[in-house]
Amino acid sequence: MSFNSFGQSFRVTTFGESHGPAIGGVVDGCPPGIAFRLEEIQAALDRRRPGQSRFTTQRREPDEVKVLSGVLPGEDGLLTTTGTPVAFLIENVDQRSKDYSAISESYRPGHADYAYDVKYGLRDHRGGGRSSARETAVRVAAGALAMKVLPGVTVRGALVQMGDIHIDRASWNWDEIGNNPFFCPDAQAAARMADYLDGIRKSGSSVGAVIEVVADGVPPGLGAPIYGKLDADLAAAFMSINAVKGVEIGEGFASAALTGEDNADEMRMGNDGKPIFLANHAGGILGGISTGQPVVARFAVKPTSSILTPRKTVTRYGEDAEILTKGRHDPCVGIRAVPVGEAMMACVLADHVLRARAQVAVPPAWPFARPEA
Ligand SMILES: Cc1cc2nc3c(=O)[nH]c(=O)nc-3n(C[C@H](O)[C@H](O)[C@H](O)COP(=O)(O)O)c2cc1C
Repeated sequence: MSFNSFGQSFRVTTFGESHGPAIGGVVDGCPPGIAFRLEEIQAALDRRRPGQSRFTTQRREPDEVKVLSGVLPGEDGLLTTTGTPVAFLIENVDQRSKDYSAISESYRPGHADYAYDVKYGLRDHRGGGRSSARETAVRVAAGALAMKVLPGVTVRGALVQMGDIHIDRASWNWDEIGNNPFFCPDAQAAARMADYLDGIRKSGSSVGAVIEVVADGVPPGLGAPIYGKLDADLAAAFMSINAVKGVEIGEGFASAALTGEDNADEMRMGNDGKPIFLANHAGGILGGISTGQPVVARFAVKPTSSILTPRKTVTRYGEDAEILTKGRHDPCVGIRAVPVGEAMMACVLADHVLRARAQVAVPPAWPFARPEA
């Protein structure tokens, strides 16, 4: 089961299973001289950690992160990268493998069980093994380090839809994100989501969500034409997150309903000699290259597959069966996917910042002088 790395210059490799002793990862390519504190990585992990509210799984994973290599310790807990691989380790402490013993033969609909078995001839039925979203904790640790490679850039994620409940974009307030258990930027929508998700949770069901990730302060010029497009790498990064079934950049699928006039991100010169875009339908990326506008992406997360209603399935021995997934699960995995989306955005941007250094030694001085007539 290879292909456990992503990124080219800021390259993240992860390892581990949900029910093994630990998960971890290595960031290869982090530049030397990047200063950070372990508490900052831990704070990022705490946002993804399960058991934080009644709306997420009651698994008690402290997700305590250790940095094993690639740093020099300094004063007051400050760590400075040396340029060698930075390795993270997070021990698994709340595995209950017996929760999964009943499903060792039957495939859980919506999970990777059948696909792994039919490809490899074996699978780790304890929580899905490598297919478990437990692996995404390591991405969050790597993403917190990636943020340090992106001075001046702010990456923030928000849950903008849960089931049929959409936020009101006019009420978007980033400060609300920390005030509700959903990372929702609209207080009224968050209250409706709480009532709705309580019903879903009590009935043992689940629901999907849409997450929007916005990166402000991204310099123009990240990404490359054709096969190195920033938007293509972002789409791959978001699509690699468990349960993600759709990705949009900027206007996304809604652009199909627009006219060219509606969709034009018109430009005017600003007083500071830089262009101002009068709209951002493109999501901050044109021709695969960042324009200096906010980079905006959304991804759709399907409803949690593990539900308490019996479902039809088959066994690995070719018999019809019924399955009910007990275990402990999130009624909406989209909630905990928010910090994971932020981490993937940060890793991709850090990768492209480092790649851009190799492509353009000295950026051109824009605007250009008009040639003499
Ligand atoms: C943060 C996070 C937590 C998840 N937790 C669960 C869970 O508790 N139960 C579940 O059925 N799926 C959960 N998932 C989704 C599954 O890992 C995923 O649906 C499954 O591995 C099949 O992969 P696919 O949906 O990407 O095809 C979670 C996803 C994320 C992003």
